[in-house]
Amino acid sequence: MLRTVRATCYVTALREGGSLPGIVEADDEGTYVTKFRGAGQGTAALIAEVVVGELARALGLRVPELVLVAFEQEIARHEPDEEVQDLLAASVGLNLGMDFLPGAVGYDGVRWRPPVAEAAAVAWLDAYTANVDRTWRNPNLLVWHRELWAVDHGAALVFQHAWPPAAAWSGRVYDLSGHALAPVFAGLDAEALADVDTRLAARVTPELLAAVLGLVPDEWLVDAAVLAGREPSAAASRDRYLEYLLPRLEGDRPWRPVAGGPVATGGARAVPA
Ligand SMILES: Nc1ncnc2c1ncn2[C@@H]1O[C@H](COP(=O)(O)OP(=O)(O)O)[C@@H](O)[C@H]1O
Ligand SMILES: [Mg+2]
Repeated sequence: MLRTVRATCYVTALREGGSLPGIVEADDEGTYVTKFRGAGQGTAALIAEVVVGELARALGLRVPELVLVAFEQEIARHEPDEEVQDLLAASVGLNLGMDFLPGAVGYDGVRWRPPVAEAAAVAWLDAYTANVDRTWRNPNLLVWHRELWAVDHGAALVFQHAWPPAAAWSGRVYDLSGHALAPVFAGLDAEALADVDTRLAARVTPELLAAVLGLVPDEWLVDAAVLAGREPSAAASRDRYLEYLLPRLEGDRPWRPVAGGPVATGGARAVPA
């Protein structure tokens, strides 16, 4: 289970990103980068944050602790900024918090680079989950105490915005050409990349996928289902995610990072649904 904390103070907006994240203090004395259920994109992005963030953690990558941040109406009432007030009022209930890493800097690939194997693991997970937000323009990687931390998985699981036929999506290729870590894992040969793929795919078991989906609050799944005009059932929703995530691990995984892939030309993107 993810811990649930109660928001005590909305500190400031993090204007940088597209999901209107804010810095929030909670009753456990923690400070969290918070994504709001009331932000325009709905709860789909929050679902992806939990599923992919916890998958990353299970695969040994560093992700700041994720918590559920409970907001009460009261916090919005004390907020002077009208836009933020609306956001908070629309976000009563559970939101997503990520432990704030003080002093972390954005990864730029220049001052410091992670170990090659770690870069390849990040790329593998991004390819598996079709994360469209790990480009050199927008790496969503932080460097903290000379270690790599992955943040912002809200744009992974792109299939959940269109639900293309599951069979077609399972083999859909992922374009790594603009991946933020491409210059690092480009050092690996075909065999080494195949090893990374075999090792990581074996670790993403049906049990692990069910476990990370189990961490997602029912209310987010129901909200997203209602928004998409589907049955408002959390259980049916979880099954649906499995229908997309399990078959993608089967066969020869045409989406996996391979040696001599396209050279960096622009943003990494999944082939559109
Ligand atoms: N846990 C964290 N600790 C410190 N800074 C963070 C953390 N998470 C995100 N940030 C900073 O806030 C920015 C926006 O957060 P992000 O999760 O990427 O939101 P968005 O979905 O809006 O892109 C990041 O690019 C990063 O600079
Ligand atoms: Mg971001």
